[in-house]
Order: sequence, then C-alpha cells, then structure tokens
Amino acid sequence: MARKTITTQVAIMGAGPAGLMLSHLLYKAGIESTVIEVRSREEIAATVRAGILEHGSVNLLVDSGVSDRVLRDGDEHQGIELRFNGESHHIDFSDLVGESVYLYAQTEVFKDLAERRELDGGDVRYSCSNTQASEFAGRPVVQFTDSEGQEFELQADFLVGADGSRSHCRFQVPEADRKWYFHEYPFAWFGILTEAPKSSKELIYANSEHGFALISQRSDDVQRMYFQCDPKENVGEWDDDRIWAEFRRRVNGNGFELKEGPVIDKMVLPFRSFVHAPMRHGNLFLAGDAAHTVPPTGAKGLNLALNDVKVLFEGLDNYFKSGSTSLLDSYSDRALERVWKAQHFSYWMTTMLHHVPGADEFGRARQLGELNSVISSRHGRAYLAEAYTGWPSK
Ligand code: DHB
Repeated sequence: MARKTITTQVAIMGAGPAGLMLSHLLYKAGIESTVIEVRSREEIAATVRAGILEHGSVNLLVDSGVSDRVLRDGDEHQGIELRFNGESHHIDFSDLVGESVYLYAQTEVFKDLAERRELDGGDVRYSCSNTQASEFAGRPVVQFTDSEGQEFELQADFLVGADGSRSHCRFQVPEADRKWYFHEYPFAWFGILTEAPKSSKELIYANSEHGFALISQRSDDVQRMYFQCDPKENVGEWDDDRIWAEFRRRVNGNGFELKEGPVIDKMVLPFRSFVHAPMRHGNLFLAGDAAHTVPPTGAKGLNLALNDVKVLFEGLDNYFKSGSTSLLDSYSDRALERVWKAQHFSYWMTTMLHHVPGADEFGRARQLGELNSVISSRHGRAYLAEAYTGWPSK
C-alpha cells in the first residue's frame, strides 16, 4: 500500500486527557486537528490514574461542553484531613479560600473526552504504530501506520506532543535546545483498589512513624488507597492480610478504623519530579506529562496537563484568528510558571508527609513541627488549600 499524505492545522500526538481536550477546544474554535495515539482506546480507559480535579479543571470540562457528568457522578470535596500523631486535622477549603475540588477519576475524564470527540466527528486515530515526528523548524511532519496497516504522512502547521511521560516528541528536541530538571525520591506508592465502603467523608493524608498513607475513594463500594513503599517493592509479596495490617498501623487509632474489604487491584507507582524546558521547540509544543512529571502527593498531574492545553489553545486560537504569534511565544513561560508552583507544592506535600529512610530523630521532630505550623495557622492552612484546589489562572 502506498503511503498517503494528509494535512491538518494542528497535529496532536497522544489521545490522553491533554491531547483530546486540546483537540476539542480547537474544534469548537473551528480549527482542524488530527490526534495520533499508539495505545488503543480500551487500554487508555482501563489505566487507573489519580482522581482529584481542581475547580478550574471542572470548569473547563463543563464550560467547554465536554460533559457535566463530573457534576453528577463526581463527588465535591470541601476539604481534606491531615492526620499525624494519631489525630486528624481538617483543612476546610471552602472556608479558607472559597473553593472545592471534585473526586472524579481520570479514566472518567478520558471517557468523557473520547466520547465527545467521537460525537463531534473528531479525527482521533488510536492503535497507531511506527510514529515518527520531524521538521519542527518548518511544517512539522508525523509519519505513522494506522490500526489497519496503512502508512501515512501527516503534515501540519503545528505539532503538539501530548504523548505522556515516555514522550516520543520530547526526545526529538536536541539536547542543546532544552534543559531537563530531575529530582528522585527514595520511595514509591503501593496503590490498591478495594471493595469496601468509604472510611471517611474526605480524603485522609496520613503521616505516621511507619510511613505515609493516603485514603481516597472511587465510589460508595470501591475505594482507592495508597501507602508509601520501597520503589523496588514487589506487589506479588503482598496478600490482603499484609496490606491491611500495613494500612492499620499507619492510619488507625484514637477511635478511627479503616473499613476493609477484598483488594481488587494493586500496583507500585514510581515517584519523581521532572521538567523539560522550554515547552516549545520551533513549531513543536509539549503539553502535560510529555513535559513534566510531579510526584502524586497532591494530585497535580492531570490538572497541570489541562492547564497547559488551556494556555496553548489560547495561543493557537489567537494565531489562526489574527496571525499573531505573541500568545504562542509566551506559552512556555506561562505554562511553566504553574508547573513550577505545582512542582514545589507536590515536593512540599511529599517531604512533609513521607518517612524519609535514614532520617534521624531531629528530622522526624522537625517534620511534626512543620505539620503543626500548617494546621495551627490560618495562613498555613490557606496556603495548602489554595495550592490543592488550584491557584487562580492568569
Ligand atoms: C488520588 C491520588 C492522589 O495522588 C491524590 O493526591 C489524591 C487522590 C486518587 O487516586 O484518588
């Protein structure tokens, strides 16, 4: 079969939430896009990811007409519990900053976006292979083979790399033209899904002498929980009894008891901070996990990705309407400002709540001093609340 040449205004690599949301916003503005994805739609929908949406992310989904299912099937949370020294302390977002977040799994966000793109006739090609992007100084080109084995050459005015943490696009940027910032942490999260009722109205972020634990939720009957573990931990060595014993010693006490049930999924989540800067190389723009990774404490990953595409959309829309490149030129700086705030917040929450292997008595006592300074001061609680619910966008 001969290779077919196709053209579009914006080529997007990656049909995760970032790529699909950008494609949707462009469609609404009358701008054409084609989305190329190597995974199948089913595989993306089955990947368990985080579950907290900032109010700005909720507004973007609802106001742009993706879906209002988040308002019906999601759960609005007005705060979280910080638990340490065996006691829980409520951080009341609505009182402190007048905002809330929604618990709504990323897989649901993906399903809403994929369905909206399908209903609107969007050009989203799942299960592609042999993808290769090039020509960023002029009109970018993406070569790929579709799910039927047909080879294509896609030419576009711009290419957006929204192709996740193992981004193909990111690796096409020459080393001399970018900087990579890395931070590694000496731990990971052991994540489970369990068939159990909710243990608490809100999420519990627990610091204990045995390590961090997070009690989150998915529905009335299925809950999501995590505990800090070694990055090399092997899930096969953990049966239900061992898992629950670990949660109990980190979270239970002073009259609080987790509601337990069968563990239906378990996995180890890697942990690191990463930033690729700038987020632009010629006519290639990076968005979401392709450009940055945050540790999961604070659930910023998906929210940052949605903010990137909101800012990038403004630049592309402005260019196609007026020919002006000024908002495209400021994309990287504007997006990175929020990325670095989120990097700091995720790092801060992580180091405040986790047990650092090898920490001495001073380190442990200092950590409790830090937690006490947050919960005992309205200003301390308000910093956490503003960052967690999402800084106002500029
Ligand atoms: C979830 C994940 C997070 O990283 C977090 O900070 C809060 C909630 C979740 O999967 O529900």
